Amino acid sequence: MSEVLRLGIAGLGTVGVGVVEIVQKHGALLKRRTGCEVAVSCVSARDSSRDRGVDLSGYGWVDDPVTMAERDDVDVVVELIGGSEGIAYDLVKTALSNGKSVVTANKALMAHHGAELAELAEANGVGLSYEAAVAGGIPIIKAMRESLMGNEIAALYGILNGTSNYILSEMRTGGRGFADVLKDAQAKGYAEADPAFDINGTDAGHKLTLLAAIAFGVKPNFDAVELNGIEHLLLEDIQFAEELGYRIKLLGITQKIDGAVVQSVEPCLVPRSSPLWAIEDVYNAVYVDCDAVETPFFSGRGAGRMPTASSVMGDIVDLARGIRVPVFGMSSMHLLDAVHAPMDRVKSRFYLRLNVVDEPGVMASITAVLRDFGISIESMVQRGRAPGEAVHVVLKTHGALTGDMRTAVEQIGALDVSVEKPCLIRIEDDL
Ligand SMILES: NC(=O)c1ccc[n+]([C@@H]2O[C@H](COP(=O)([O-])OP(=O)(O)OC[C@H]3O[C@@H](n4cnc5c(N)ncnc54)[C@H](OP(=O)(O)O)[C@@H]3O)[C@@H](O)[C@H]2O)c1
Repeated sequence: MSEVLRLGIAGLGTVGVGVVEIVQKHGALLKRRTGCEVAVSCVSARDSSRDRGVDLSGYGWVDDPVTMAERDDVDVVVELIGGSEGIAYDLVKTALSNGKSVVTANKALMAHHGAELAELAEANGVGLSYEAAVAGGIPIIKAMRESLMGNEIAALYGILNGTSNYILSEMRTGGRGFADVLKDAQAKGYAEADPAFDINGTDAGHKLTLLAAIAFGVKPNFDAVELNGIEHLLLEDIQFAEELGYRIKLLGITQKIDGAVVQSVEPCLVPRSSPLWAIEDVYNAVYVDCDAVETPFFSGRGAGRMPTASSVMGDIVDLARGIRVPVFGMSSMHLLDAVHAPMDRVKSRFYLRLNVVDEPGVMASITAVLRDFGISIESMVQRGRAPGEAVHVVLKTHGALTGDMRTAVEQIGALDVSVEKPCLIRIEDDL
């Protein structure tokens, strides 16, 4: 092990500056902990003239970050630019090919190219770490890839996107609609100017892809994630859920059904008894269903400068200690091409909100459709509006296959009495 580990930090935005701050603040502590000096050789961003609030004067400046991968004074490339393609992909690929370890916070890159990059890292005998890419400051990759390796994992449930969790929390506590809270989240800097990836499930899907790969020993496959976001949720859904004893959370879920891997991101009703119920605001959490340790639960800050930089530093410390762990928990040649199953085969109870005309016989026609699919109703809530206007009816069903439930809901939505697309949400009672 060498006495100095030299970093090239590509990207000096939210996370990159946090990493520089920690290296500067905890240099002596890091040296005592690792027996090795952690030093920054060079940094890169688009604008070299911008004051970033940290002293960069002792570091080399690199205009084209890909050239970091060729420098003799860089042992580890720390990729904090972002994006699944383009410069981040080129930089990571070149660094690994040139025998340099890579630490990244880039979930999009790892979800789309993880299998290829893991192989490249192995072929070149270097590390590829991405703790910060999943659930920000929570050390979930380390837990999954190291501590839980003695367990067979049956399922994993995560609140993996802080922005959507913040929006759902604010809608509930403030009694405000989705669009209003989203605007507020953007003003506070919790949501990007283009918040699409946060609210349509893509960001959580990237993270889920990586967790599923480790949990089941399969190649990461983002295309197999079924994505359902929170855009269509009404304040009424959140209030009805609460009345029924639940909170709505955007969950990334992966589980095995008859040997096939199911991956989904979707809003779910979570019961008060679940530890996920209490995870509010921008926090993240992961609940793992294991055979030996049962159901470990991890929670903490899922984003932000210092929590994310903390995870990046954890990976850097491993490299400083000479520790390299297989990227997805096993050698690439042992990772399987997963057989993926659609959500249709998942059985659960459901919340179904309908907006229907208020006239005799309406409920009979709805229950007739459900009966045809063998779906029985556990309870029903109706919220009246002004006389003659449509009403919201909320049904809670007993267990049913998602495929049956979806077809039934399509048929109900097509009935003349339905005035708006029904809203179907899975209930996760077993958490
Ligand atoms: N922010 C979080 O809380 C968080 C949490 C977990 C993971 N992540 C991940 O961490 C990564 C970085 O996120 P961030 O929030 O720090 O992003 P950010 O604030 O937008 O910073 C991105 C940095 O990359 C630089 N950059 C962009 N294009 C470049 C190019 N062509 N050449 C050189 N530098 C370039 C930018 O330069 P300029 O500053 O000059 O524009 C900027 O410094 C992403 O993969 C993100 O998904 C972020």
